Amino acid sequence: MNQNRIGIFDSGVGGLTVLRAIERQLPRESVLYFGDTARLPYGNRSEAEIVQFVREILTWMAAEGVKMVLMACNTSSALALEIVRDEVDFPILGLILPGAKAAVEAGRRIGVIATAATVASDAYRRAMLEVENTASVWQIPCPKFVPLIEDNRIFDPYTEEVTWEYLAPLVDANIDTLIYGCTHYPLLEPVVRSLLSDRVRLVDPAVHLVAAAARELELLGLRSTSTALPTRFGVSGDPDSFANLSVRWLGYTPTVEKVVLPQVEPSFINPLRP
Ligand code: DGL
Repeated sequence: MNQNRIGIFDSGVGGLTVLRAIERQLPRESVLYFGDTARLPYGNRSEAEIVQFVREILTWMAAEGVKMVLMACNTSSALALEIVRDEVDFPILGLILPGAKAAVEAGRRIGVIATAATVASDAYRRAMLEVENTASVWQIPCPKFVPLIEDNRIFDPYTEEVTWEYLAPLVDANIDTLIYGCTHYPLLEPVVRSLLSDRVRLVDPAVHLVAAAARELELLGLRSTSTALPTRFGVSGDPDSFANLSVRWLGYTPTVEKVVLPQVEPSFINPLRP
């Protein structure tokens, strides 16, 4: 049993889809949420930049006493998870493996919509083929989605046009399953659903990441048994903009702190490491 918070982070509001899954699947767990809004989008960044940002976030979260971190960002999960996993003394879980496993359980003709960096990493394809080598995978980078969501333009007609532009090759490929390979994209669900046949299954890796986290907490004896504390929100950019944008998905106006992340040397070596 452990009442410490679970840390989750994303570049912006995308991680709210992971928070939503925690609230449903692990209602007793308290969360520390961080949005790196001063540096979004992550999807066009290099691996070196993402690894550096993730190290800064993890160093801050470690100082805040988290018991586990969930990377609520596919780009970080694809580019940084394996590099930083052993650098901290708490468990860190990412979205790629749980999402890939769920997708190959759902179908065999799988579309992945994700950031340019996640698609370039090929992480989803590799993870799926490892589990199921008969799967066919089509990956589409969708760089316009995160700015549209962060600008609160989900129901703008232009967003529907852009969504169609990204989904058309997947419809032509006759996919039976679509993975939201970026945590922002389930926020577009009404638009995506309206453009795809009901036959196509939508996989939100957040749900499967949280299921994996539940198993890990149980295994490590870290599950909370008391009532969850209100989520603590921190951002690197403007707290009011984040609060105003996230109210739609949270159903309440959050109190958001401005966080100045610690400086971490690029040649970071964790003193905790043996
Ligand atoms: N929501 C994140 C992801 O899952 C980051 C998106 C971005 O900032 O480009 O990849």
